[in-house]
Amino acid sequence: MGDGPILVVFGTRPEAIKLYPLIHALRDAGTNLRVVVSAQHREMLDQVLAIARIVPNHDLDLMLPDQSLDQLSARLLTELGRVYDAERPSRVIVQGDTATAMIGALAAYYRKVPVAHVEAGLRSGNIHHPWPEEVNRKIVGAIADQHFAPTDTARDALLRENVPADRIWVTGNTVIDALHATIARIDAEPALAAGIAPLLARLEGKRIVAVTTHRRENFGAGLEAMAHAVRDIAGRPDVAVVFPVHPNPNVREPMQRILADTPDAHLIDPLDYPNFVALLRGCELVLTDSGGVQEEAPALGKPVLVMRETTERPEGVTAGTARLVGNDRATIVAATAALLDDAEAYGAMARAHNPFGDGQACARIVDVMLRG
Ligand code: UD1
Ligand code: UDP
Repeated sequence: MGDGPILVVFGTRPEAIKLYPLIHALRDAGTNLRVVVSAQHREMLDQVLAIARIVPNHDLDLMLPDQSLDQLSARLLTELGRVYDAERPSRVIVQGDTATAMIGALAAYYRKVPVAHVEAGLRSGNIHHPWPEEVNRKIVGAIADQHFAPTDTARDALLRENVPADRIWVTGNTVIDALHATIARIDAEPALAAGIAPLLARLEGKRIVAVTTHRRENFGAGLEAMAHAVRDIAGRPDVAVVFPVHPNPNVREPMQRILADTPDAHLIDPLDYPNFVALLRGCELVLTDSGGVQEEAPALGKPVLVMRETTERPEGVTAGTARLVGNDRATIVAATAALLDDAEAYGAMARAHNPFGDGQACARIVDVMLRG
């Protein structure tokens, strides 16, 4: 390994949330670490960078409106390649399954630079769900020489793909580190999460259902069915839906069209992380197709109905705190009603449970990286 810097490379909101505690931990440990953001996301990335007080060394500012996968991937490859040639890194760190993570690993491989993969080994077993993330993860897994698996299930998936056991470390998911740190910060400084407070105060007396959606495989009919389900749920007199809408135009358009006239479906802009954590803490249950939210909700004791056919995060389902409900309108509405109307069913799911980590993932990763 050369003596160049370690480059940590990311571009979207969830990568930033899951990597910022590791960036701080590696810097505290004295490593020569430089931060490269593709800005595959712009506003949602900047929200996290501001809260996490991270100033990138390189910002490629790549996001285009309604970007296609090939356009994004091609620009990532040439632009990240240029940064790697200038920085001559000794190692690259990527997280998860985005286009930035996959191309960040590929550009390193083309230069024979070793890659560490944070959140390694998640597999749904179906390359079309989630799409394109399942294949992105497999590509990073084929390239990486350090695999930081969040759970034993993830480690076992890597072993089945012939990753050597001594290149896998089960660390927990760094999202739990981020969640714990954020809760501690909100508790010390409530103003950090004051943005969502007026809406929650206005909805006092209603039961809050938090909703997020954005998956590409659901664009079109899937998202429309989810919107209709949300309309049915928000039509209940005892419920208010709070729905921070992803800025992707393929998400915004159907949600605004179908939910515009539903008084208790509150469509809002994406929340910064402390305010979103406050929403999760204040809600009764969560409806989502997000990966990260599936990991956070069980940690907060909130039942999560996963609007997907498959999940690469089965630990919540196994623990009984998450349930797969797909994207069929009637199924989503019935599963939500079953929780809202049956205290016993609700109680069985609303147990704080943390199958995804103990908040010490970053310390474990730093330990391995310092040993080389
Ligand atoms: C991406 C990731 C997905 C991840 C998700 C998290 C890929 C292929 N997809 O999906 O794995 O789960 O991020 O949210 O890597 N946009 C904005 N402002 C922003 C962010 C997005 O306007 O801050 C809009 C733009 O029009 C952009 C579009 O959303 O073109 C899509 O962004 P993109 O990163 O390509 O895909 P996501 O669907 O966000
Ligand atoms: N999140 C946020 N603000 C929001 C919605 C979500 O900060 O308005 C956080 C959420 O807590 C989680 C992450 O964003 O940590 C999930 O991002 P997303 O659902 O976009 O991506 P995925 O996890 O599905 O890749």
